[in-house]
Amino acid sequence: MNTNTSPVSLSKIDEERFGIRVAKAPEVTQDTFSLIMDFCYENGVDMLIARCPCSEQSSVQIMGQNGFLLMDTILYSKLDLLAVPAPQAPKDPVEFVVRSVRVGEQHTVKSMAAECFRGHKGHYHSDPKLDPAKCEEIYPDWAYRACISSEVADEVVVADMGNDLLGFVTLRLVDPGECHVDLVGIVPGRQGRGSYRSFLIHIMDWARSKEVKHLVAPVSIANVLTQNIIVHYGYRMSYSDYVFHKWFD
Ligand SMILES: CC(C)(COP(=O)(O)OP(=O)(O)OC[C@H]1O[C@@H](n2cnc3c(N)ncnc32)[C@H](O)[C@@H]1OP(=O)(O)O)[C@@H](O)C(=O)NCCC(=O)NCCS
Repeated sequence: MNTNTSPVSLSKIDEERFGIRVAKAPEVTQDTFSLIMDFCYENGVDMLIARCPCSEQSSVQIMGQNGFLLMDTILYSKLDLLAVPAPQAPKDPVEFVVRSVRVGEQHTVKSMAAECFRGHKGHYHSDPKLDPAKCEEIYPDWAYRACISSEVADEVVVADMGNDLLGFVTLRLVDPGECHVDLVGIVPGRQGRGSYRSFLIHIMDWARSKEVKHLVAPVSIANVLTQNIIVHYGYRMSYSDYVFHKWFD
């Protein structure tokens, strides 16, 4: 569960990956803007990744006036577990079992993420100043860390075909009663066959066992396929963030 309440902090992992000093501000508001900027100047930050609720018009305008560039927009859609029944199991018998990831499978999950997210456009990929090869490492590395660190994910679920894994989901308990469905991937040759439904049934069972009331799926506005799929399963758009990058050079 995330207990970090500071409006800005240095990102060690981004610094190691890109070789520059990076800071992250998860929620810029009018009140925190100056504080965040001062932190960046005092700490010699090269690039700030700043998220701002789309509803915060005045903060968005201040950021635009100060050279922040928009890199992505994230829609957070919620599935109310108290109101929505789990979808029925697929009619055709599924050829895989959905279960928790096991120790030692983190490398396989990493490889699956590399396949699933190849060419995927997140906010890092949208920034022409960042090395595209390094950006391609982000999703696989995130999926790998989700398997081995409870700071990254509370649960990782995989679809197991016996000798093969064909998909994964990473889940994170965020606020009391809320669980984020962060990364979902079905390997490309297996997509479009209804695998997501089996994942969702398993995720809903797991979430209910943790007294979760809402699943939240943060998905880029540009990922139209996933946006359509989650609406199909009963998720409803709840809130949204702009993701900006600010370079201090
Ligand atoms: C998103 C992703 C996980 C979906 O997996 P998938 O195996 O292709 O999805 P499915 O075939 O299970 O389809 C899921 C459901 O959405 C429906 N669906 C598919 N395309 C749809 C569309 N364009 N509009 C509405 N519903 C759609 C399917 O019919 C299915 O519903 P059903 O269970 O009632 O039959 C997969 O495309 C993927 O790995 N993408 C790359 C990574 C990614 O973008 N991840 C999401 C962001 S983290």
